[in-house]
Amino acid sequence: MSPEEMLKSFPDQLQWEKTDIDRSLYRTITFCGMGGSGIVGDIAKSWLEHRGCNVVAISHRGYGLPNYVNGEEHLVICTSYSGNTEETISNFETAMKRDATVICISSGGKLEELAKKSGVLHLKVPSGFAPRYALGYMLSKILTLLGVEKDELEDAKENLKTSYEEIKKKGEEIANKLNGYIPIIYATPLTEACAFRWKTQINENSKTQAYFATLPEMHHNEVVGLDNAEIRSKCAFIVMFDLKDHERVRRRVDITIRLLKDLGIVPVAIGGDGNSYLARLLYLIHVGDWASYYLAGKYGFEPLPVKVIDWIKEELLKL
Ligand code: PA5
Repeated sequence: MSPEEMLKSFPDQLQWEKTDIDRSLYRTITFCGMGGSGIVGDIAKSWLEHRGCNVVAISHRGYGLPNYVNGEEHLVICTSYSGNTEETISNFETAMKRDATVICISSGGKLEELAKKSGVLHLKVPSGFAPRYALGYMLSKILTLLGVEKDELEDAKENLKTSYEEIKKKGEEIANKLNGYIPIIYATPLTEACAFRWKTQINENSKTQAYFATLPEMHHNEVVGLDNAEIRSKCAFIVMFDLKDHERVRRRVDITIRLLKDLGIVPVAIGGDGNSYLARLLYLIHVGDWASYYLAGKYGFEPLPVKVIDWIKEELLKL
């Protein structure tokens, strides 16, 4: 499947399934995963928080697990598209040792084998995609586990489908603005997961550096870096926000845009479009996915291969 076909399939990847997981049984939820699989946890965490869920939810990237994960009242969701990512295997093994409740998501690989051997629930997603292009499959599994309503997921999916041309067009326009510059994305707490996804999609698909910072923290450091005219002239700025951001954060978004304009920079200001927070998140993510795809074309790169990631994984297998 071509990267364009994989991107196009994103709305259809969102599939609601009935689940009998009772979230109220758990004191904490730890989402584990790296790269294209790790972002799933960030999105799920933002979604849970936005809907006022009072369970502690953490997105964990790296080996082992935080110390608080100890006992069955802690739910650990291990997501690895390939099922072979060593950090996620380490999360799984640690969770099993600590008697946590574990759920695994992968298209196969070692994680599926280990889950089956240990009698742990394993949710399988279709194979044949690059991990970051299977976001919709992995995310729907997690959101349905967490109790997303069918209507909410269907509405978000419909929103992506009806806005398809608009999303693609925005992606292409943004790619034109980013071409030749280092993308710097300024986000709000509600859009931080999107900014992270944009950064990593630009890294992996467009093969270029990209960075992000989040309000309000960035008003205490990042903004001072804008004093450097030589460096800022090499950057292209994006400011992303959500209509449900805290009112003081919204004020800070306006101030940030004004600050950039006063420096002669016209940032791309962008919010998601949709009836729910989930719909807006996915809209914004999809604009970034298309932007990174078009930007790859402008730089003459194939979006799919990530040779250096593959090389690092092979090197680690030798040790
Ligand atoms: O998109 C990619 O190819 C990477 O970011 C991978 O997702 C990352 O290396 C982790 O691999 P996996 O998703 O198979 O666990």
